[in-house]
Amino acid sequence: MPSNRRKFLRNLSIGAGALGFSLPSFAKVKNSNETFLELQESLPQTFNMCGYAAPKLDAVHIGIVGLGMRGSDAVERLSYIEGVEITALCDKYADRVGKAQQTLEKMGRPKAKEYSGDEGYKALCQSKDVDLVYTCTPWHLHAPISLLAMKSGKHAATEVNAGLSIDECWQLVETSEQTKKHCMMLENCCYDFFELLTLNMARNGLLGEIVHAEGAYIHDLTKDYLFNKNAYADMWRLKENAKRNGNLYPTHGLGPIAQCMNINRGDKMDHLVSMSTNDFTLGNLAKEMAAKDDFFQPYAGKNYRGNMNNTIIRTNKGKTMLLQHDVSTLRPYSRIHLISGTKGIAQKYPAPERIALEHKWMKEDELKQLKEKYTLPIVKHIGEIAKEVGGHGGMDFIMDWRLMDCLRNGLPLDMDVYDAASWSSIIALSEQSVKAKSKTMDIPDFTRGAWKTNKPVNLTLEGGGTTQVRTVQKTGN
Ligand SMILES: NC(=O)c1ccc[n+]([C@@H]2O[C@H](COP(=O)([O-])OP(=O)(O)OC[C@H]3O[C@@H](n4cnc5c(N)ncnc54)[C@H](O)[C@@H]3O)[C@@H](O)[C@H]2O)c1
Repeated sequence: MPSNRRKFLRNLSIGAGALGFSLPSFAKVKNSNETFLELQESLPQTFNMCGYAAPKLDAVHIGIVGLGMRGSDAVERLSYIEGVEITALCDKYADRVGKAQQTLEKMGRPKAKEYSGDEGYKALCQSKDVDLVYTCTPWHLHAPISLLAMKSGKHAATEVNAGLSIDECWQLVETSEQTKKHCMMLENCCYDFFELLTLNMARNGLLGEIVHAEGAYIHDLTKDYLFNKNAYADMWRLKENAKRNGNLYPTHGLGPIAQCMNINRGDKMDHLVSMSTNDFTLGNLAKEMAAKDDFFQPYAGKNYRGNMNNTIIRTNKGKTMLLQHDVSTLRPYSRIHLISGTKGIAQKYPAPERIALEHKWMKEDELKQLKEKYTLPIVKHIGEIAKEVGGHGGMDFIMDWRLMDCLRNGLPLDMDVYDAASWSSIIALSEQSVKAKSKTMDIPDFTRGAWKTNKPVNLTLEGGGTTQVRTVQKTGN
């Protein structure tokens, strides 16, 4: 492709974000998303963000955007970490910023600058007091905020997912490469205890060559969350379930198995097929709720997402991954987390966690010995403290601590923009496949070929492990 054409494409992709985030879309010029993807992939990588170590930050100044259920917990967790200052807080609703200030006070931390309103995040991203923008808003804002953060010279950490469309995913990649700012998706499940254990086992060949893996997000959110007026702000998550049909939340299941399979670092997700059931619960529930309470009238009569989605991915090296998504039928929680190799298998859900290196599951005492042998240094170092601080049993704190320790010591992050983009791309691709009677969808190579030589995730604490955790005497309520 002539180089001026490449430049045009690249400028178009980056420029679209700068113009108030109306997504390009290159499809507008080229009319076909497939052509857009082909062209994007044919561009050379500007810079490889895999393994990239940004300059050290002695203190990490954080701006948190979105102070609902998840963001307000993040304020407390991050307040435990030495060398971290929460300098800016933002929510659409000013009273939520006020509550987060109270948390800082309770944790003995200084007040942060306050931002609010629909567009308050823009000033936060552009402020001089922030090194990292940590986003915990509804999904549709994740990519716009991360893009503005990077373009304003900040690192971006975003709650799952990182982008809802393929265009957004590409923009994140392009922007991270051009600005040399990290864009990490906060996939906390990669830091859960059994997930880290199986990652180490896989890395050490205990399970042989990994052939197949399964992950899921199966969590009945209906009554307590989706249809609860006091849960998600402005009912954003219920609205998403009436707007999209596919796997809306793939990354909790996918992140940990992708790391075990060295996705983007030796192998790559090549293509997928996806199939959804009809909806058998959400529409009925909306009707029932609307009959009792007028508040729910706007949610009745909508075309809700099929309850159960199955997505199967094949990798370039001929391995498979099954992802499931169901947040609306009555089932016990599960992320499956199954890793099946030529020499053994590990599976987390349903409990108890189990491993087999022959035709039967290992006994408890054998499992215990194996756990001792394969526990990673990060878990030995921070695992017990993380359990005390909490956050999904500790995994949230391990993730936060590791991110801060990497930034403070100038280490590459465990999850880069290619992970963020490729794991998130499953949302849009599963929607497209479901819509087209489970047609095969190619998964973009966001690394543009670098997956062949990128190094696997570092499982040591080498060069880091220096970040301390504060002892906190909480004050007030
Ligand atoms: N990793 C995990 O385990 C985990 C768990 C729960 C939620 N999440 C993710 O965290 C994110 C937030 O979820 P939640 O449960 O806290 O939802 P929530 O509705 O409780 O919080 C979202 C917050 O964003 C605010 N907001 C909306 N528009 C805004 C804007 N323009 N500017 C600033 N703030 C704005 C809302 O007022 C609200 O306070 C979601 O992406 C969700 O998927 C992740």
